[in-house]
Amino acid sequence: MKVGVIGSTGAIGTAFIKRLLAAHADIEIHSFSSKKQRPATHVIHHQIDYNCEDSIKAAAQQAYSDRGFDMVLVTTGLLHNGDALQPEKSLRDLSAEKFQTVFQANSILPALVAKHFLPLLRTDKRAVFAALSARVGSISDNRLGGWYAYRASKAALNMILKNAAIEMARRHKKVIILGLHPGTVDSDLSDPFQSNVQEGKLFTPDYAAQKLLHVIKNASPNDSGKCLAWDGQEVEP
Ligand SMILES: NC(=O)c1ccc[n+]([C@@H]2O[C@H](COP(=O)([O-])OP(=O)(O)OC[C@H]3O[C@@H](n4cnc5c(N)ncnc54)[C@H](OP(=O)(O)O)[C@@H]3O)[C@@H](O)[C@H]2O)c1
Repeated sequence: MKVGVIGSTGAIGTAFIKRLLAAHADIEIHSFSSKKQRPATHVIHHQIDYNCEDSIKAAAQQAYSDRGFDMVLVTTGLLHNGDALQPEKSLRDLSAEKFQTVFQANSILPALVAKHFLPLLRTDKRAVFAALSARVGSISDNRLGGWYAYRASKAALNMILKNAAIEMARRHKKVIILGLHPGTVDSDLSDPFQSNVQEGKLFTPDYAAQKLLHVIKNASPNDSGKCLAWDGQEVEP
């Protein structure tokens, strides 16, 4: 089994890699991150520049080496970045700069990863491309408002994944493309917002990875283009 994980130092990315290593003795994992990382056995690390398409393309090609991926997981994402970037509570907080930063991370990067990794999936048997989205990207589920750029960038990501699923299905019936909602997970990304989480509803990264790997395992080509939550339920667009 050959797997790519883009965003390998994040909490959920790290948990995916640990779970996959524990479950598959013969696995080959290619991890991709903006940071240097000391790889574990069975893991080959690639440092990439998320803001440079050539860097993404070159790393994808280097990892491919004539053997397609069974699974590619995009676990990158951005909600806040210290004082410079916090999710907006009101229209007053919007800025073009913040929108650009958040869309670059949550919509454009996964789209370019799809551009360069989808052609490297194996097509002779079932293969999965999944990107971490979020329930707050659902327009029909939006009851609270706020978080303009993050919500909009995840809604855009869901559309990009749906488009890619339609395009891939024309030629490759065994490729499954998914958005995934991990639940609320204890990580740097969620840290400032955890006080509002109901007791028992803050997942460990390991629990989220376990549930999402189960969702991926059970997904069929009919699910391609959907955003599925950790419990297997579809997140309505
Ligand atoms: N935690 C939650 O409650 C929750 C809920 C719903 C959805 N999600 C989604 O799950 C994904 C992973 O979140 P996490 O909780 O594991 O967060 P995390 O621990 O903070 O990890 C963030 C990941 O995003 C990457 N990243 C950081 N800044 C970035 C930027 N400017 N552009 C592109 N990538 C950047 C990091 O890459 P490096 O590996 O290069 O450091 C890291 O892999 C995100 O897409 C998030 O929206 C999380």
